[in-house]
Amino acid sequence: MPDWLEKAVFYEIYPQSYIDSNGDGIGDLPGILKKLEYFQYLGINAVWLNPCFMSPFKDAGYDVSDFYQVAPRYGTNADLQTLFVEARRLGIRILLDLVPGHTSTECAWFKESCQAERNIYTDWYIWTNSIWTWNAPGVQTVIGYSERDGNYITNFFHFQPALNYGFAKPDPNQPWQQPVDAPGPQAVRRELKNIMKFWLDLGASGFRVDMAGSLVKNDPGCQETARLWHELRTWLDTEYPEAALVSEWSDPTVAIPAGFHMDFLLPFASPAYQALFAMKKIEAASQDVSGSCFFDPVRPGDIQRFLDSYLPLYQATRGKGFIVIPSGNHDTTPRLGNGRTPRDLALVFLFLLTIPGVPFIHYGDEIGMRSPDGLKSKEGGYGRTGARTPMQWDGSPNAGFSSAPRDQLYLPVEDSPTRPNVAAQRPIEDSLLNQVRQLIALRLAHPALCASGTFDPLYAEEGKLPFVYLRQQGEEKILVAINPSAQPCEIALDLEPSREQPECLYGEAAAFRQAGTQWRVHLPGVSGSVYRL
Ligand code: NOJ
Ligand code: CA
Repeated sequence: MPDWLEKAVFYEIYPQSYIDSNGDGIGDLPGILKKLEYFQYLGINAVWLNPCFMSPFKDAGYDVSDFYQVAPRYGTNADLQTLFVEARRLGIRILLDLVPGHTSTECAWFKESCQAERNIYTDWYIWTNSIWTWNAPGVQTVIGYSERDGNYITNFFHFQPALNYGFAKPDPNQPWQQPVDAPGPQAVRRELKNIMKFWLDLGASGFRVDMAGSLVKNDPGCQETARLWHELRTWLDTEYPEAALVSEWSDPTVAIPAGFHMDFLLPFASPAYQALFAMKKIEAASQDVSGSCFFDPVRPGDIQRFLDSYLPLYQATRGKGFIVIPSGNHDTTPRLGNGRTPRDLALVFLFLLTIPGVPFIHYGDEIGMRSPDGLKSKEGGYGRTGARTPMQWDGSPNAGFSSAPRDQLYLPVEDSPTRPNVAAQRPIEDSLLNQVRQLIALRLAHPALCASGTFDPLYAEEGKLPFVYLRQQGEEKILVAINPSAQPCEIALDLEPSREQPECLYGEAAAFRQAGTQWRVHLPGVSGSVYRL
């Protein structure tokens, strides 16, 4: 386990939307390089960079056509290397986005694989044995794409043919389904390792792995896919022990034993995530008590719903790897900022930055950016497009993202006079940005709050507030109390009496006090407090 993960705070950067250095309307790597100062100011020490490789960009770069080359719109391999080096000098590590499951149809390997004549790429993708074989169970095929007499299997969109890692249980009646140890799947594995090696040697600190569980087909329980990752992790542990892997899997009980250091709970797939932050408009969620989420100021949902899903995952992975509850990502709308005030959001960050595992902040969430509704889909974004709009740096018309004419921006900036921006929030002491900074600093200053500090709910009663939990590491014990409701709350807490008044590290000093033999927690509406016991 790379030691640095203990104190890692990640920031997700969607390169096309972050900062444009040359006025072409698209964010780029030299732009990101100029923002290292901002990363330091914010206090993040790790970045997940969404795909920046050669691509026809039909899925915003998740359709890679050359895994060894930075897309010209972002810069060059040398620019990426410079970014690695300069960031690292400041203690900031960069993870690239690795897309192992598929390529673009524009990838040279796929074009070769499409040929009717056998060649070395013939078995790099999964093809049925004839174009008349198209209804293979559990997989999706594209029919009649080339003169090769077969259909290829897609991994996601139709232009993302699945690389061939074989089938865990090949169907004997479908001889085109190759076992994992067949030459094609083995060659693809070797190539995957080459890609990883290439970027690690250039200075990457690891990878966020796209659809990590998707590799081996017909793989009940993902056993063969897990074996593959385990093999890669074993290699990393010896060759690149500092490199980190975070999976897009949303099942830490499988991903972590498979070899990932961290696994995301995906907003759209994880009941634990949804119990915290509904994936619909807050206003709409509030009308439905049963479905409402905990961080809903109007009618907070039950924290027990979160704990019922989260605790089994936490207990199963403790000491082995980390669960990631991201603030959002480029696939999820609405953003947390939609329908929440800066005060609501500061409380969300208090939670996200004091729970175990590794925090990931989607760019712009630190200032409360909102995802606009009704945007025209861009590069396969569809309903996800709103989470990908330009970073809002200042109050100028293009929000400081780019000097290009407005109609040439990668995506329009949020069209609202109240849109938040960095420049406006920097000088204000209690702005959301400054509270997020303060919370990051708080986390990093206290081992109990870092990735592996233990987590014990102390007060989590059905239909009652606040939610109180204890984090502990070594001698240090930290108590966090959270009240997402607009109404104040007060409870008695069953804790050992103490001779000293606990030190308030964040929030209201008066929120936690001893009254006779009892401890009492009193929190104003939408507030949280942190104490060292
Ligand atoms: C997950 C990525 O986050 C998403 O943006 C992409 O469209 C799919 N995987 C396919 O690669
Ligand atoms: Ca640019």
